[in-house]
Amino acid sequence: MNTLLSSRLGAVKPSPSIAAKARVDALRAAGRRIVDFTIGEPDFPTPAHIVEGAVAALAQGHTRYTGSAGTPALRQAIAAKLARENGLAFRSEEIMVGVGAKNLIFNALAATLNEGDEVVIPAPFWVSYPDMVLLNGGTPVIAAADAASGFKLTADALQKAITPRTRWLILNTPNNPSGAVYTRGELEAICAVLRLHPQVWLMTDEIYEHFVYGDARHLSPLNVAPDLAVRTLLVNGVSKAYAMTGWRVGYAAGPAALVQALALLASQTTTCASAMSQAAAAVALNGPQDCVTEARTLFAQRRDRITELLEPIPGLRCAVPDGAFYVFPSVAGLLGRKTPEGTVLTNDLDVTLFLLDNAGVAAVDGGAYGMPGHLRLSFATGIDQIEAGCAAIREAVGLLA
Ligand SMILES: Cc1ncc(COP(=O)(O)O)c(C=O)c1O
Repeated sequence: MNTLLSSRLGAVKPSPSIAAKARVDALRAAGRRIVDFTIGEPDFPTPAHIVEGAVAALAQGHTRYTGSAGTPALRQAIAAKLARENGLAFRSEEIMVGVGAKNLIFNALAATLNEGDEVVIPAPFWVSYPDMVLLNGGTPVIAAADAASGFKLTADALQKAITPRTRWLILNTPNNPSGAVYTRGELEAICAVLRLHPQVWLMTDEIYEHFVYGDARHLSPLNVAPDLAVRTLLVNGVSKAYAMTGWRVGYAAGPAALVQALALLASQTTTCASAMSQAAAAVALNGPQDCVTEARTLFAQRRDRITELLEPIPGLRCAVPDGAFYVFPSVAGLLGRKTPEGTVLTNDLDVTLFLLDNAGVAAVDGGAYGMPGHLRLSFATGIDQIEAGCAAIREAVGLLA
């Protein structure tokens, strides 16, 4: 059959979290009150000093194309940040600025994958990784990292997933959706496996690095295995740390040859990230960091509140996440139960639809993240919403037979 879409696009589904958000917007437009736990971004505005920096940059004429890899000022600010906060030494030529981390992950795959190359992705995963691999002709190889291992990829599971065709492992710590934060020992074990397979590159997505709670500490795999720097691409950005999701600036750091390939790709696609957004990102990285500390403190309080309210609900099991701003409770205890309308809840998608209809609460099903039997709830929302949403979930679950 003749179709407008390429076969690659045909293999791809819309981002489930963006789809869930659209469903919430539609219900709200129809007059329903919905507590929205689907949000994947901080719920507060970009700090004023960053906005002011961007306005000043506009006034100073930062309104033109920049180099494809980013402005020298921002690349230097990123190198300084990686040295200061992560203890990692990168030269400007080893740093690439992109239109969000998402754009860089996609371009890194586009720049390196040949048809049928495999990419190991631990599940649960950020929804976009597998589809980005498919869009670039690769094959996602999903390696389970379930609750038994604290939602973390074990060395053994990684070893089993690697084949001669493996090109990348994508590791995300702190993790969206599980909130898992890899420890030094866990990263060492993974890096030891990678050392045995020189054909495998490591993509380390550290976009939630600043949101770690309690005793958890963020570590980059490069902190424990600097020898892997020759085949590692570190991906990060300003979206989450500085509440700058709409500015669309991310960055990647890795071998200069890969950065050049990324710049080549950008030069033929986006040209560059927006000049004023790059100026704002430099202000964010070079400026005072209290806004990041304040955001972390706020998220820590919300994490504590949402877990203490969800865990006692019969049928839910909610581990306390060490990082990011999501909880990922198991809903296995609700499966097989019957709604007041007589429908049996057979999977996590049924549970999300039940909660949307009966509790006015929006969450995303774990299946979207490669781990059915769970829900993802974002706590990047006010304590009042968290309390109202959890009370509504408790009440709705109480109606199940
Ligand atoms: C794990 C992970 N990586 C990357 C991104 C993309 O971030 P950016 O806004 O920089 O494109 C997200 C956004 O939700 C994410 O959750």
